Amino acid sequence: MLSDRATTPRNPLLIRPTRPLPRKVGIVGAGTIGPDIGYYLKSALPDLELVLVDVNQAALDDAVSRFSAYAAKGVKRRKMTEEAAAKVVQGIVATLDYADLAGCDWVIEAATEDLPLKRRIFAQIAEVVGEDTVITSNTSSLPASRVFDELPNPGRATVTHFFAPAWRNPAVEVIAWEHGSQDVLDWLRWTFCKTGKVPMVTDDVLCFMLDRVFDNWCNEAALCLDAATTLEVDSVAHDYVHAGPFFVLNLANGNPIIWHTNTLQMEEGEHYRPAGLFRSVDTWVTGKPGSRVEMTEGVAAHVRTRLLGSLFSQSCDILDRDIALPADLELGCTVALGFKQGPLGLMAELGQSEFDLITRGFDEQRPGGPTPRRTVAEYTDFARHVLVDDLDGVRVLTIRRPQALGALDDRVTAELLAAIEQAEGDPSVEGFVIIGYGDKAFSAGADIGRFPECLGDTELSAQYARDCSGLLRHLDGMTKPVVAALNGMALGGGLELALRCHGIVATERAFLQFPEITLGIAPGIGGMVVPYRRWPAAAGVFHDMLRTARKLKAVEAASLGVLDGLADSYESLVELAVGRVRELAGHVAGITEGPVDVGELPPVEPYAGKQLISREVIDIIGAAIRDAAAATDFEEALEIGYRAFAASACTPAAREGVTAFLTHRRPDFSKTG
Ligand code: COA
Repeated sequence: MLSDRATTPRNPLLIRPTRPLPRKVGIVGAGTIGPDIGYYLKSALPDLELVLVDVNQAALDDAVSRFSAYAAKGVKRRKMTEEAAAKVVQGIVATLDYADLAGCDWVIEAATEDLPLKRRIFAQIAEVVGEDTVITSNTSSLPASRVFDELPNPGRATVTHFFAPAWRNPAVEVIAWEHGSQDVLDWLRWTFCKTGKVPMVTDDVLCFMLDRVFDNWCNEAALCLDAATTLEVDSVAHDYVHAGPFFVLNLANGNPIIWHTNTLQMEEGEHYRPAGLFRSVDTWVTGKPGSRVEMTEGVAAHVRTRLLGSLFSQSCDILDRDIALPADLELGCTVALGFKQGPLGLMAELGQSEFDLITRGFDEQRPGGPTPRRTVAEYTDFARHVLVDDLDGVRVLTIRRPQALGALDDRVTAELLAAIEQAEGDPSVEGFVIIGYGDKAFSAGADIGRFPECLGDTELSAQYARDCSGLLRHLDGMTKPVVAALNGMALGGGLELALRCHGIVATERAFLQFPEITLGIAPGIGGMVVPYRRWPAAAGVFHDMLRTARKLKAVEAASLGVLDGLADSYESLVELAVGRVRELAGHVAGITEGPVDVGELPPVEPYAGKQLISREVIDIIGAAIRDAAAATDFEEALEIGYRAFAASACTPAAREGVTAFLTHRRPDFSKTG
């Protein structure tokens, strides 16, 4: 079944769905996750008619008041306008009557993990909805082939498994199963991506992909209690997850669930037998997430082998059985399960010999489970953040790093470069489009998490900027066209990437911005150089963008000639970008080599909107703009930019701005200069 992955686009927004976005959705089950799914859908599609069905009026009343409370919180946190909040709570029918589901395009079942109950629910749903209504179950463990075996027209049904909190957690598993229709699977992936989720196609096995990892991680934690305490186990786990297994089990009231799901997995072997404690313990003794307790080295090593052994055993099994793609496993473990990095990244970091020690040690203590069949190098040879698709001879590279709005770390740029290099010499590839994932961001810039290690060190910072420029320098020398398709915000380093592409197109809602000054740093990888050499007539606008973080809306960028075209949707953006690649084929122009006139740099007030910014860094940027414009060749101009970035990284303002971002507070530049 999963071989269909080869014929369907990796980027769900390249799918041409056979149905429109849903207009009326039903959710059966008003417990916790059902209303959370409903809230996510209403926030993304405010005009949606939503029908919530339950057998319990009190649960329905609670669900409706939860919608209002979430919306009020959204407004308070400035994530939502008052107008949007008002719409989110409109158009909701909370009902005891299944007949209200009539006319739904899609019904999602979110009841308890009880197969006979689910079958009864589906029979009731099928009686009132059309033959074509998409029906999905949020089961975390039961294969679609069991849940839907009695459903009329089962092709329109599958499992869509959400993760808590479903209104915010972007991960959702979409199950590819024997009788499921490819059209429905594609429509679900497209709809999820359009509404801000990250769908991951998973095979129809017990517990799918992520619960196999999570359930066995928790089960192993409980099985370790013969040699360690819950606090010790959570403490060891904190090296790998934001919250230890016992803390999460308490939070999710997970003991009965693990009992149930691991009992199910015992169909695959005795190895999966759940710890008896899941039946006798209500609540575990835990500390705060991240907290550490003292323990002997022996205990720590034992727990580590068992936890990582289980993690690697399950992860390798998922890949060996082709249950899901490695990039989805990696992303799902971080965004849905709270791992600090995915299991494959962890494997690569530990290396083959440490991996062997752990997996062999685990197999000795817990024989009978899946064991790795390949080397670490083989398991970890895949692109984590770049999805590669082909559209009639144009290679579309999608940056998928939703947890950081497409921010560019070394791995993302290395993967983009590798994907380009791999196809550049292929005559059947006319050129490339680089685009972001979903509707929000092309890229929110360079990964700010990397900045602290550069702060205060001029040479290191300048070298960091040079090292970050590998992809951009490659683009400068290319003859095959690369077009940036700005599907949303293009910020900082993300904008610097777009500006180096040979053409740029954008959706009307996109915007371009250099927010670096609000972090107390200068845009170091061409931002102070390239715009002036490509669009000198717009120099005045770039002065403001670079020194005061002025946003440039796509419409204005198009009128200045920075953009080659505007589109009204992601879909038409892709078409426009592909068309632009074709136009540019054979006509890729290099960036001006000689000096350019950037006109006057008028003095500016040290404010980005209402935010006070650093005068010192404004001056560093101003000087770099002037010096780079006067440089005799492009390379020298770029070097001026790298060094200006380094100078800014050594200011007190940089330390304040970067620390403020990383600790989620507003920067205060009043004392930094
Ligand atoms: N580097 C690293 N992480 C980034 C990032 C970047 N450039 N931009 C966003 N992220 C992360 C956020 O830290 C957040 O992670 P968290 O959920 O673990 O806290 C996640 O992406 C979502 O961002 P968030 O800030 O919650 O979304 P928002 O919609 O409220 O705000 C922005 C979006 C773009 C305005 C905000 O993220 C931002 O200011 N980012 C920095 C942009 C920047 O200065 N770029 C230039 C760097 S060269």
